[in-house]
Amino acid sequence: MKVLGVVAKTHDSGIALLQDGVPELIFEEERFNRTKKTKKFPKYSLAAARADFGLSLADVDVITTPWDVRQLRKTAIRLLARRFPLSLSLLLPRTHESQQNQIMVLNFYLRRGLRKSFGPTTLPPIVNVGHHDSHAAVFFVSPFEEALVLVMDGYGDDSSSSTYLGRGNRLQRTWSTGIMNSVGLVYTFMTQHLGFAGFGDEGKVMALAAYGSDTYVQRFRDVIRLAPDGGYAVDLSYFSFDKFGQLRPFSRKFIDTFGPVRDANEPLGDRHRDLAFALQTVTEEVILHRVRSLLKLFSVRDLCLTGGVALNCVANAKVLEETDVRRVWVPPCASDTGAPFGSALWHTHQTLGLPRCFELTHPYYGRAYRDQDITGALEAAGLRYHPMPMPQLLRRVAKDLADGKIVGWFQDRFEMGPRALGNRSILADPRRAEMREKLNDRVKKREPFRPFAPVVLAERAAEYFEVEQADPFMTLAPRVRPDRQSSIAAAVHVDGTGRIQTIDRAANPRYYGLIEEFARLTGVPVLLNTSFNRKEPIVASPKDAIACYLESGIDVLVLGDFYTSDRQSAAAVELLSLQSAAHASKPVTVAQASQG
Ligand SMILES: [Fe+2]
Repeated sequence: MKVLGVVAKTHDSGIALLQDGVPELIFEEERFNRTKKTKKFPKYSLAAARADFGLSLADVDVITTPWDVRQLRKTAIRLLARRFPLSLSLLLPRTHESQQNQIMVLNFYLRRGLRKSFGPTTLPPIVNVGHHDSHAAVFFVSPFEEALVLVMDGYGDDSSSSTYLGRGNRLQRTWSTGIMNSVGLVYTFMTQHLGFAGFGDEGKVMALAAYGSDTYVQRFRDVIRLAPDGGYAVDLSYFSFDKFGQLRPFSRKFIDTFGPVRDANEPLGDRHRDLAFALQTVTEEVILHRVRSLLKLFSVRDLCLTGGVALNCVANAKVLEETDVRRVWVPPCASDTGAPFGSALWHTHQTLGLPRCFELTHPYYGRAYRDQDITGALEAAGLRYHPMPMPQLLRRVAKDLADGKIVGWFQDRFEMGPRALGNRSILADPRRAEMREKLNDRVKKREPFRPFAPVVLAERAAEYFEVEQADPFMTLAPRVRPDRQSSIAAAVHVDGTGRIQTIDRAANPRYYGLIEEFARLTGVPVLLNTSFNRKEPIVASPKDAIACYLESGIDVLVLGDFYTSDRQSAAAVELLSLQSAAHASKPVTVAQASQG
């Protein structure tokens, strides 16, 4: 049973190909078309799947989408009717930029796009899976035989939060709430209010919250109130996104209570930090409240968190710390980046009843590049490089890191989801407190309040962090043990937490081997790990990685088995090409023209 999950016409477009519930590939289109959170039809992903995996629609049994289009139409009509006629503005594309109106006739556009990609061919049947069902279906690849599942995102086709009970190859939805009663949307619009990009910069607000104090917490508890049944209620008198979407998300009451919108260029002040703090605090309270009520209803103690809100690693860690949950599992693709995968999983197990046979233990289902692609790209850029056998390469790079160098680390298949987890990563020494500033100045150009994440050898995680369980996908932010904070100073956020990734050898032997080698040299089994990019999507190809290396202050670039720290040759090649371009564009004299 081959199932192809596809997202198109909504943010995070991409594909996932599953054979009997086992992923063969999970590609996000943004990695190929280089536009963050793209909504474009995933034509490059499909082309890569054809080229690398011989994907043919003749071999695909079913195509799935993570949107129940009929349900979505019903929800949209109800939404329009409730606030009519003001709600007519919701028909304007500018009111919901993360989704195109064409989603209402998604199957038509899907068929058209597939025919463009594959030529005239008989298409497999298209099955529309519910949006939250698609998120919840990651339970089927979790380590749990039985678990509670909490889905929270901006909104799906019928809800913004849902809970499920998962047992074996069955998921049962136990609760849901309306699409406008959305903690995810409040978080996104508050992100906009604080001068950042909604639908993408929510993590910045989460980081900023650690600098705030509780000035607005009590007032914000009126914006989202906890309900006695374990649910919550967003007070829509503070908002107008139910009428005008993202064009005018806040009502006068909100602005009067919490102040005006921050301009992106305006300096961050106490009010902004305190608002971020209030938002984060109340979001955590809602999640904890929901989880505690689930724990009262069911005797299950393991929990899957998914949907875009589950990218909030600070809240996830609090669930583990402050409730009776035994283990928390969040997939590396909790946002809609995992929706194609989830829709295909739902169809495979829930609809068709196939037994589970696979656990997701690593995120590396992206595209890999061949050695000749790597050497070709290095040579085209004019970089001198050295092939190195693996043990030598690991020793060399570990030494570079220990010497304070910043390393671009590119290996094998890229990761699914929004986090770089060791195959498209920029790595650095966490012992040096100044490394955060150095990384920011020379490479990332991020806001100074944002932390850099530590990756730690799984079996040594508990020595450094207050966490009992593995976290291979960077989904928890536990506290760094006080006696270890100074030894990994660059990886500790202002609130004393670290957004960890634990790595075990089986999941990624090279990455593990590098950290192990660094630990042998320094005694510290931890590296700083940040995504291999600057402002653009995480690099996919060797060419992307080389461009990022050349444009930034990365000291060393490792592409597969190839090592370079060369810049001079590339500069010479660039100079030569500039000179020849200048020469070619010189005006041609009459004499030269007559000679020609
Ligand atoms: Fe979603």
